[in-house]
Amino acid sequence: MKNDSTDPRSSSTFYERYHTLEEIYDWINRTAQDNPRTVKVILIGSSYEKRPLYVLKLSFNDRPNRKAMWIDCGIHAREWISPAFCMWFVHHSLSFYQQNSEITRILDSMDVYVLPVMNPDGYKYTWTTRRWWRKNRSISKSGFCVGVDLNRNFDVDWVKGSSQNPCEEINCGPFPESEPETQAVANFLRRHKDTVQLYITIHSYSQMLIFPYSYTFDQAENHNDLMVQEAAQRIKRYYRNTYTYGPGAAILYPCSGGSDDWAYKLGIKYSFTFELQDRGEYGFLLPPSHISGACNEALLAVKTVAVKVLEKTQAPANDHTI
Ligand code: ARG
Ligand code: ZN
Repeated sequence: MKNDSTDPRSSSTFYERYHTLEEIYDWINRTAQDNPRTVKVILIGSSYEKRPLYVLKLSFNDRPNRKAMWIDCGIHAREWISPAFCMWFVHHSLSFYQQNSEITRILDSMDVYVLPVMNPDGYKYTWTTRRWWRKNRSISKSGFCVGVDLNRNFDVDWVKGSSQNPCEEINCGPFPESEPETQAVANFLRRHKDTVQLYITIHSYSQMLIFPYSYTFDQAENHNDLMVQEAAQRIKRYYRNTYTYGPGAAILYPCSGGSDDWAYKLGIKYSFTFELQDRGEYGFLLPPSHISGACNEALLAVKTVAVKVLEKTQAPANDHTI
């Protein structure tokens, strides 16, 4: 990739900085242009304020019956490390295919769909007006308050443990999938549910690897497969950082309408919310100097989980040679 430009004013690279929405759109286009054989841009819908929602599809070979994984970032506007992670992940994939064994194995067996900014209107707003904004920017019927929490707007036990008051931070919206951003993602995943085996959504902060359920205290049927202790252990070993893991309701708080539970109930049996750095010191204002550390450890978790999914779902190689 050619776009690894270094800002002469600092020693950080392009991926070690936070980027405006416009810069991210440029990066999406450039990435596809620079990698015409492996990267495609898919327009899956548009936001409330009519900004495009682009997914990058990474596809390194076209064997039949290819499976896929999905990663979305930036569902919550103020969690800037999240879009930064999606960019980091794409860059790593394109740079280290056939160099790093895990990413090679993953990309050889799966297509990867990456949505770098699920909530572009909110993200833009955090750069221009209010750094602390979380929701999208849709205007409620009463016209009084703005914004729906997209991670409460999915059609799973909708409204329970959430709020229908549009003035609140966890407003779930007027009805399930009321928001165009939610609809775009849900429609795409419904269309691809037979191939997508792993769903990952990236948030911050608190250093957690969360899996279903959040809307109930019931245990997921494949709970033991979702207990990703290897991922947490590897982060500890390589980066000396602690990540907790477990079902959302138990380790964080019960709440409904989340994308992870929704994807799981759609049939994507490996479904995760990763909460990246930190644990509250800087919170959403994680300094750019922490981007590489935060992204590298999250990358390790993504790769660990993806390889595990491959091991669980791929039939053992049927070698008939004698
Ligand atoms: N901090 C995230 C949120 O509140 C956690 C999401 C976990 N999953 C869930 N379905 N609640 O959206
Ligand atoms: Zn979040």
